[in-house]
Amino acid sequence: MAEIIIVKNAEAAGELAAEAILRLVARKPDAVLGVATGSTPLSTYQALARTVQAENLDLSAVRGFALDEYVGIPVEHPESYRSVITREVVEPLGLTPSLVHVPNGRLDGIQHAGDEYEAAIRAAGGVDLQILGIGRTGHIGFNEPGSSLASLTRTKTLTEQTRIDNARFFDSIDDVPTHCITQGLGTILRAEHLVLLAFGEAKADAVAAAVEGAVTSSQPGSVIQLHAHATVIVDEAAASKL
Ligand code: GLP
Repeated sequence: MAEIIIVKNAEAAGELAAEAILRLVARKPDAVLGVATGSTPLSTYQALARTVQAENLDLSAVRGFALDEYVGIPVEHPESYRSVITREVVEPLGLTPSLVHVPNGRLDGIQHAGDEYEAAIRAAGGVDLQILGIGRTGHIGFNEPGSSLASLTRTKTLTEQTRIDNARFFDSIDDVPTHCITQGLGTILRAEHLVLLAFGEAKADAVAAAVEGAVTSSQPGSVIQLHAHATVIVDEAAASKL
């Protein structure tokens, strides 16, 4: 059973998640953070950045692994997850770019990219704290419904719903990639501590299914119930169907 914390808004959630990360880094300066993209974790990164600045903290030894990446857009594209992680996480927190990994979504070498990413996570000793958002389809990372509960990093096809939801980051839906490479549900479950965040009514069904529904691959977020240390931080709207 995950620990559920209901807070007023995304800012309050970001503060809590940032505190958990800072406690970890205080005891392990080279902690391995699992970072997520999307709108949801932004308040966490912003809260972290504020404290880093106010207290002049040095996070340069912190290591990072992103959950996923698009396949089929250049890594320099402003919406590639490499670009997003650089802009939202690495630069504002003063992380060391070479210590922050994003799956390789380039078409050349894509058949080995999953195994290489798994090996890199293993070599780092595993993820200490994994930040997660959840999609309206119930996806975590880009593990859409139907993903094996034991899956590892691999390429996947994005659902139409997820492409529609992510079209806001692109000029048009036609520009949203159709494929991605994502850590698997099995990869995510290996992290030491999962912190899942969700805000707004649009996430209420996915949150209820993840927290209280059956553990099933048709609701990928439900795997958090298999984890010994999962924290779910939601606002009232996202908690409304619990
Ligand atoms: C995206 C990401 C996920 C994210 C989810 C929710 O497509 N691949 O890692 O958690 O969808 O996105 P948002 O936080 O913008 O609602």
